[in-house]
Amino acid sequence: MTSFPEFGEATTATEVADALSQQVKGKNVLLVGVSPNSLGEHMALSIARHSPSLLILASRAASKVNEVISTIHSIAPSAPIISMTLDLSSQSSIRSAAPKILLLAPKLDIVINNAAVNVPDYETTREGIEMHFGVNHIGLFLLTNLLLPSVLRAASSSPVPGSTRIVNMTSAGHRLSPIRFSDYNLLKKNGELVEEERPPRGLPKALLDPDVAYSPFVAYGQSKTGNILFSVSLTEALKERGVRSFSVHPGSIWTGLARNLDEQGQALIRATGKTWKSGDQGAATAIVAAFDPNLNDASDVYLADCQLAPAAEFATDSKFAERLWRLSEELVGEKFDLGEKR
Ligand SMILES: NC(=O)c1ccc[n+]([C@@H]2O[C@H](COP(=O)([O-])OP(=O)(O)OC[C@H]3O[C@@H](n4cnc5c(N)ncnc54)[C@H](OP(=O)(O)O)[C@@H]3O)[C@@H](O)[C@H]2O)c1
Repeated sequence: MTSFPEFGEATTATEVADALSQQVKGKNVLLVGVSPNSLGEHMALSIARHSPSLLILASRAASKVNEVISTIHSIAPSAPIISMTLDLSSQSSIRSAAPKILLLAPKLDIVINNAAVNVPDYETTREGIEMHFGVNHIGLFLLTNLLLPSVLRAASSSPVPGSTRIVNMTSAGHRLSPIRFSDYNLLKKNGELVEEERPPRGLPKALLDPDVAYSPFVAYGQSKTGNILFSVSLTEALKERGVRSFSVHPGSIWTGLARNLDEQGQALIRATGKTWKSGDQGAATAIVAAFDPNLNDASDVYLADCQLAPAAEFATDSKFAERLWRLSEELVGEKFDLGEKR
């Protein structure tokens, strides 16, 4: 249960951060995926007002991060912010940024993995991984694991177990696809997949057609299922050492995320939003997940509209979380046995 049952879909990140000001104060925060008009900008703005010790803003375009920093400094001139450039579609870029972040922040209290792409055509990362899966899950899996020494240092010196957090931004769109363990690169047609890897029944016919191969919506959905399963694994492995991970559906917010989709794709996205939130409202649930001290139960994993909520079973099952962890290790060519870091 959260501290504020009255918070909901209309609550803003500004209001949440005001309420949790004491929890923000003095924290070292890394926010990945920050551009003007992104949810990352609104998260950064709300955090910066409450005296964090350090706010590292990482994204692929330095100019966009710097624009956000200027906006923040116009309202919180002394906020200690550092910008970091990294491209999640390149594992060498991630591997070169991680040591710099570890140096800047020997303790990382809060990591918010906000970055994501939503692209219409089939693309791959530098390593040949389907772009949604490669950026939205695999890139963030690699970065987060490389940063764990700083996260664990923060947790071991924190007086409040469970206040060290890794927040993975996901989406209600995770319901569009489980992880396709036999086809994570989405090369098969629906009809060639085993039942449990197909898009779930009840979705629009176009997504279920046995002859359909690549769908950007299914690809995005798979990556967002990965974000939730990653939180399941992180909390399971690190709960005894004071770390919690939550995944967050922010709601529907018209940001830059859909800018690459064609008209049909944009129309489909427009049709999914029952209620469209402002950016400040869209950032609110992530701030709850990052700072609410009442969120301390290791079995809690998914939030929406500022409260705990149910996610699809295929996105929360620890058996799938374990399989995804092993697949992710394979795809980054490194084992991260969290047990060994004790
Ligand atoms: N907006 C919604 O309605 C909605 C709904 C459900 C879930 N979400 C989730 O909320 C999160 C934030 O989305 P948003 O709406 O704020 O989208 P956004 O405006 O597109 O922001 C995404 C951020 O990630 C960055 N990014 C993209 N690819 C990257 C890469 N390869 N390396 C490093 N950074 C990269 C983007 O940089 P560039 O500006 O350079 O591309 C941008 O700063 C995402 O995880 C998304 O899946 C959003």
